[in-house]
Amino acid sequence: MEPAMRSLLSDNSRYVESFRLFLQNSTEHQCMQEFIESRLPDVVSSIGDGKSAINVLGVGSGSGEIDLQIFSKIQARYPGVTINTDIVEPSSEQILSYKERVAKTPGLENINFTWHKKTSSEFELQVKEKSERKYDLIHMIQMLYYVKDVPTTLRFFRSLLAPDGKLLIILVSGNSGWSTLWKKYGSRLPLNDLCLYITAGDVADMLSADGAKHQCYDLPSDMDITECFIDGDKNGDLLLDFLTETCEFNKNAPCELREEIFQDLKSPGCSSVKNEKVIFNNNLSAIVVESD
Ligand SMILES: C[S@@+](CC[C@H](N)C(=O)[O-])C[C@H]1O[C@@H](n2cnc3c(N)ncnc32)[C@H](O)[C@@H]1O
Repeated sequence: MEPAMRSLLSDNSRYVESFRLFLQNSTEHQCMQEFIESRLPDVVSSIGDGKSAINVLGVGSGSGEIDLQIFSKIQARYPGVTINTDIVEPSSEQILSYKERVAKTPGLENINFTWHKKTSSEFELQVKEKSERKYDLIHMIQMLYYVKDVPTTLRFFRSLLAPDGKLLIILVSGNSGWSTLWKKYGSRLPLNDLCLYITAGDVADMLSADGAKHQCYDLPSDMDITECFIDGDKNGDLLLDFLTETCEFNKNAPCELREEIFQDLKSPGCSSVKNEKVIFNNNLSAIVVESD
């Protein structure tokens, strides 16, 4: 890795800013919403059977936009049943946005929210010390890149599933532009202990190796990265940071690496050109893991 480059995650407000822009420029949340509409009702159809309350754990929930859509499907299946939710999220900025979202959303009266300003491994320690709670649904949406030891983390969260509980994981898919980019440039970008370049395919392999019963779903998605190619464009710079997980990539990357990445970002392994726009392949996969 080039010494002048540092991980985007080391600057939380720039990370949050570039993530928001990524959401605006991509169909990331729309494709998740489609999955939630079409598939989630079936996934949650038996998680609360015979239970007086349903426990949900969100890991890396961000500002909660997707979480609230998930709750609406649980509420539709189990009207009036109390939902207790623990949210594990290390960014105070994201927790604040989540709380603001809850405050202005009607229909959440039967949901008890508890936020834990922690990373997943800090939460793991807390649980091991003093909690016996089991969960009917655990979700880890676009966050497993940020844990140090994915197989161990998966085993730990699977151990928290109640009977009939489900673990929902969403990550970029092995056929996405992300995968192409990471395979080629991972070793030259600030891959450090803050971020791992893993895809849903890698996670599915880990689950199979552990004999965990799971099912995978494709979530086609794209992202308009045209602005990345406009010199001096502020949004383009933020998107580039998000794509490379590098803080101020355009300013700090060596010329050679920048040129190579620019070239590849436009190539068919990563993107296609439609109506003069460069459209990056942001395909995701959802994995639903059953309790043992
Ligand atoms: C790409 S965002 C996804 C947010 C949300 N799940 C969504 O899909 O909109 C990743 C989230 O994981 C959180 N995060 C980063 N490292 C984490 C860790 N070690 N444990 C738990 N969450 C983490 C970040 O703060 C951020 O909110």
